[in-house]
Amino acid sequence: MYKNLANTLFVGKNLIFLTSCHSTNQEAYDILGKSTVPDGTIVITEDQTAGRGQMGNTWESERGKNLTFSLILRPKFLKASQQFMLNMSVSLGITDWLLRFRPEFTIKWPNDIYFLDRKVSGILIQNQLKKQGMDTSIVGIGLNINQQEFSIPQATSLTAITGETFGLQNCLEELAGYLEQRYLQLRGGGSGLHEDYMSRLYRFNEEHLFESEGYFRGRIIAVKPDGTILIKTAGGLRSFQFKEVAYVI
Ligand code: BTN
Repeated sequence: MYKNLANTLFVGKNLIFLTSCHSTNQEAYDILGKSTVPDGTIVITEDQTAGRGQMGNTWESERGKNLTFSLILRPKFLKASQQFMLNMSVSLGITDWLLRFRPEFTIKWPNDIYFLDRKVSGILIQNQLKKQGMDTSIVGIGLNINQQEFSIPQATSLTAITGETFGLQNCLEELAGYLEQRYLQLRGGGSGLHEDYMSRLYRFNEEHLFESEGYFRGRIIAVKPDGTILIKTAGGLRSFQFKEVAYVI
């Protein structure tokens, strides 16, 4: 059970709690199709049974252990070409909160949240566009908090990292505060977001193996504000959009 948030200006002021659902992103989408909800509405469940991840993956979360929610935003001030700015602001909001616990949290391009080499949080943003601009965004966030065991070895949680257990309502309140601050920064023009994103980038400027129609070694030297990643290889500079390249290991 979650209660409406009291510590924010608009994020989570309206909170829709579902005991169980397939996917909060799907629920948020259905709600938007039926009614007008305030900007910052959070749709949250403690039992997500068919969570969706990026690239058609699933997102698994043990009942009552983690945060699984979708935040409804209307970033009408962004052009369609600026969509990645929202990804940056959400990744930064999550890491702002996590970095209070440990310094090793990073953002794996485009917007996975890592602790060392393990994933602690995933973000699935579904945007609805109107003409050349952004209309509505459903920002789906899965953040592993109290879960101890995972079916995939690369996953971790805040409890596995710190050895503590956490109250989920309190976690949501604190996290929402950071998400709101970063969103306000974006609404105010987004100055500093790109620099902060780069300063937290996972494996930035380190030589690693990548895959894109074959394996290659390279170094991430930049992520452009539009989300394009630039990887320096022995054969020259290569640039990729989301889904065109994968980290290996
Ligand atoms: C990913 O890393 O692949 C993204 C995972 C996103 C999971 C969250 S959990 C809440 C929201 N509802 C969903 O169905 N997915 C997102």
